[in-house]
Amino acid sequence: MGSIAGVVDQVLDRTVAPGYSRIGYHLRRRQWSPLPDGALDGRVVLVTGGTSGLGLATVEACARLGATVHLLGRDRQRGESAARGVRRRVPNAEIVVEECDLGSLPAVAAFAQDFGARVPALHGLVHNAGLMADPRTETPEGHELTLSVHVLGPHLLTSLLVPVLVPGSRVLFVSSGGMYSQPLAVDDPEFREGEYSGVTAYARAKRMQVVLAEQWAERLADRDITVRAMHPGWADTPGVQRHLPRFRSLTRPILRTSEEGADTIVWLLAADHLEPPTGGFWHDRAVRPTHAFGRHQESAADRARFWTFCDDAVAAYVGEPA
Ligand SMILES: NC(=O)c1ccc[n+]([C@@H]2O[C@H](COP(=O)([O-])OP(=O)(O)OC[C@H]3O[C@@H](n4cnc5c(N)ncnc54)[C@H](OP(=O)(O)O)[C@@H]3O)[C@@H](O)[C@H]2O)c1
Repeated sequence: MGSIAGVVDQVLDRTVAPGYSRIGYHLRRRQWSPLPDGALDGRVVLVTGGTSGLGLATVEACARLGATVHLLGRDRQRGESAARGVRRRVPNAEIVVEECDLGSLPAVAAFAQDFGARVPALHGLVHNAGLMADPRTETPEGHELTLSVHVLGPHLLTSLLVPVLVPGSRVLFVSSGGMYSQPLAVDDPEFREGEYSGVTAYARAKRMQVVLAEQWAERLADRDITVRAMHPGWADTPGVQRHLPRFRSLTRPILRTSEEGADTIVWLLAADHLEPPTGGFWHDRAVRPTHAFGRHQESAADRARFWTFCDDAVAAYVGEPA
């Protein structure tokens, strides 16, 4: 990036609202090259939360670039309907609808086993599914729902799909800039203490995703599987409409489209020569700091405790990997 463009990019990042909005996207994209046609030819990609918003935009963009896309939703009919829409807009789209509730660890284990038996080689895994749960809700296994869908489900799914992730494959966690507001909540990951807030639970889970992505990146580097986290900025999706109506009514004119929010997800799946070669917290095609002004830095010991917590939570379900 040229130096003036670099300064503009940094200012946008630090001032949050312009950078996260469509203003940041449109200023930055002037520096970008389009991905070549067929950039994902022959690749197989699994996108969670593919029925709506950023996930659906990712499915469509990947199909347009030539990938076979496994669109995972928790409801088959919504998945089929989303897939029909993509096939209408992208006539040669190869879409396979998958069904799994990522808030259920037994369902994730069963899905991974079935998927691994059917799909021998996976090139991209996008942990995009998300929600904001208010009031505090527990899954049948007793985990707080936000934690389960954003962190434990993806952790289990990654663990079980490692055998089918081929060398060169890419795993992405779709986090949020909201994670800057929270430290790694390793003392109370299930949010059992203090006054529960759905927004805080969400931001905590998004911080956890960034740490988890870094930890997976270290662990999978020797298999040549790369793992990254990213945030999409602010996009006008059904999720934002449902969970943040006030925020949406205030910011609507400057919100990104789902396609603009999904741009960096697709780019991280398809671009060549990413630097650094694995890891990083990405936004608008560049690595961003993981801690705003150094706040909320977690210790190595807390990171290790967090990994152990995630491993322990899914341990009962990792017996039979794909
Ligand atoms: N939009 C933004 O501005 C923004 C900003 C920062 C981060 N993000 C992140 O981007 C991701 C996508 O968000 P979005 O705005 O596109 O939201 P969205 O329109 O609500 O889409 C969320 C997707 O997640 C799926 N999902 C929710 N719970 C699930 C579960 N238990 N099992 C399986 N799938 C489940 C939903 O499926 P259903 O169709 O069944 O509901 C839907 O497909 C999320 O991780 C979100 O946190 C978004």
